[in-house]
Amino acid sequence: MSHVYLIGFMGSGKSSVGRRLARRLGMPFVDLDQRIEQDAHTSISQIFTSGGEELFRSLETQALDALAEKPPSVVACGGGVVVTDHNRIELKRTGTVVYLKVNAAEALARIADKSTRPLLAGGGGATAATALLDARTALYEAVSDIAVDTVGLNVDEVVDRVAHELDAEESA
Ligand code: S3P
Repeated sequence: MSHVYLIGFMGSGKSSVGRRLARRLGMPFVDLDQRIEQDAHTSISQIFTSGGEELFRSLETQALDALAEKPPSVVACGGGVVVTDHNRIELKRTGTVVYLKVNAAEALARIADKSTRPLLAGGGGATAATALLDARTALYEAVSDIAVDTVGLNVDEVVDRVAHELDAEESA
């Protein structure tokens, strides 16, 4: 099996679903944001403060490229991984891409600490989140092999649906 990449907006549950899905599939789990922080020896917020979104996106691409060549894992990607053209090509080339769908209201409700999400920390609230989600939805849809709507579901229910869809995809 190749990598399983989880994509979707902030708060869609990529990390919590990814961790449990990896255990279920017997694969290693990687959180791409944590990998970026480890490689840079600093936090995502600090990367945005020192070099802006541009620096963050280049570190994100480096981390993805390095990981793509490693043995298969379940990867929780950051919500903006799809905005970089190169990343979308790499995701499709090296794995199965699972889109966890969420709406802006539920995403905001799930993110307790907005200060760890520089793109939401500006105080724009629901309007900012909706605009960002609207701008990205077509990209999430274009790159994904599987899409699961997470609204109203708990983590285990999402894991069940993703595992089921992956099985169906494998045997197709
Ligand atoms: C981002 C999402 C964050 C993180 C960074 C940028 C985005 O990851 O990569 O703050 O552009 O949507 P999560 O989706 O895990 O919160």
